[in-house]
Amino acid sequence: MRPRRFLPSAPLKGRIRVPGDKSISHRSIMLGALAVGETRVTGLLEGEDVLSTAAAMRAMGAQVERLGEGSWSVHGVGVGALLQPQAALDMGNSGTSTRLLMGLVASHPITASFIGDASLSKRPMGRVIEPLSRMGAQFTASPGDRLPLMLRGAQPAVPIEYRLPVASAQVKSAVLLAGLNTPGLTTVIEPIPTRDHSERMLRGFGAELDVEIEADGTRVIRIRGEAELKPQVIDVPGDPSSAAFFIVAALVVPGSELLIENVGLNPTRAGLVEVLQQMGGDITLLNAREVGGEPVADLLVKHSALRGIAVDPAIAPSMIDEFPALFVAAALAEGTTVTTGLDELRVKESDRLAVMAAALSAAGARVSEQEDGLTIEGTGGEPLPGTSGAIATHLDHRIAMAMTVGGLASKAGVEVDDTRPIATSFPVFEAMLDGLAG
Ligand code: S3P
Repeated sequence: MRPRRFLPSAPLKGRIRVPGDKSISHRSIMLGALAVGETRVTGLLEGEDVLSTAAAMRAMGAQVERLGEGSWSVHGVGVGALLQPQAALDMGNSGTSTRLLMGLVASHPITASFIGDASLSKRPMGRVIEPLSRMGAQFTASPGDRLPLMLRGAQPAVPIEYRLPVASAQVKSAVLLAGLNTPGLTTVIEPIPTRDHSERMLRGFGAELDVEIEADGTRVIRIRGEAELKPQVIDVPGDPSSAAFFIVAALVVPGSELLIENVGLNPTRAGLVEVLQQMGGDITLLNAREVGGEPVADLLVKHSALRGIAVDPAIAPSMIDEFPALFVAAALAEGTTVTTGLDELRVKESDRLAVMAAALSAAGARVSEQEDGLTIEGTGGEPLPGTSGAIATHLDHRIAMAMTVGGLASKAGVEVDDTRPIATSFPVFEAMLDGLAG
């Protein structure tokens, strides 16, 4: 464990550039590994989660090499040609690596074992086991459909039409990736839209994929296998989920004015900015442009008097990873913030409703936990009292970063029990923060 106390901060001023998007980084390595020829990636997030994906693709035959900072080369094996891994695939803390790779393996004639850390080994895998079994894959999982598990891929796999029972981009992507090496049309029906990086990138690599949007907003996504992917040159935009912590920090630390460059603003990811603006946050989008087929802008964020609101649950999928950061903003706003419809937060790297309720309460915030959300009475801009002991982060990077931000806007500081998990998604987080505060 690596504990650290985060102390009240001077105004955050200057400019920062957030590292590459985690979701897009995973997908660029996976699809590069399935294209024949060399894919070049710049701006790749070199966090532990993405490195787990890179190691797994190497274990299944791809050449994945680091050329320089964020600059990577992937020589793929071709769809259908993944090799049998010789050892268990260690997914570390990464749910995205696990679920998406299960999709890939499911339609290849190979057997793979998946293992992970204590956090990942508690997370539900039934949501991908179910559709992939229908496609013909066979699973031997630990009780509760958890890791460690063994997966025997089907050859040939059977195309299915699958209606997502939960709003999950990981489940959607697992089925679409399995569809790559499945003869015929694999269909995913998505009643509630989730991040669409897989669809965008699969098309970019030349897969035959189409999306039909029905009158009620339901998306019907079809992919034709067996696909041939062509190598690509990919520039990964900055991760809005990493930017989130600095956005909230600049809003809640008095006197701050921060320019956060290169933030991905794909509409399926940009919910936090909208909600913070509704709360009175002064966030200006500058230099809007496209990077790697994704909308990007620089965000100018100034300290603001925030007001509590009832957050529309319909916006949750587009900010699903940003709730820990939002809860901290709510704890420092004027009035009450009510969040609902967040059952999915209970199965992230930790139970983020229970863990954030406990952590914020320990820091002196007024929080009540419901089945599917938190209700938070803000301080009206007064700093939080801070913690006496360390708050428990349960191997969850986003809890650690959110409570770090809480510490910056506190009287006595906030102690986080373990900062190591931050390296799964944002290895330079502390250095960036120290650089701004110093
Ligand atoms: C991700 C999807 C989301 C998100 C995760 C990354 C992805 O998970 O929480 O951090 O890259 O597809 P769910 O699909 O479980 O919602």
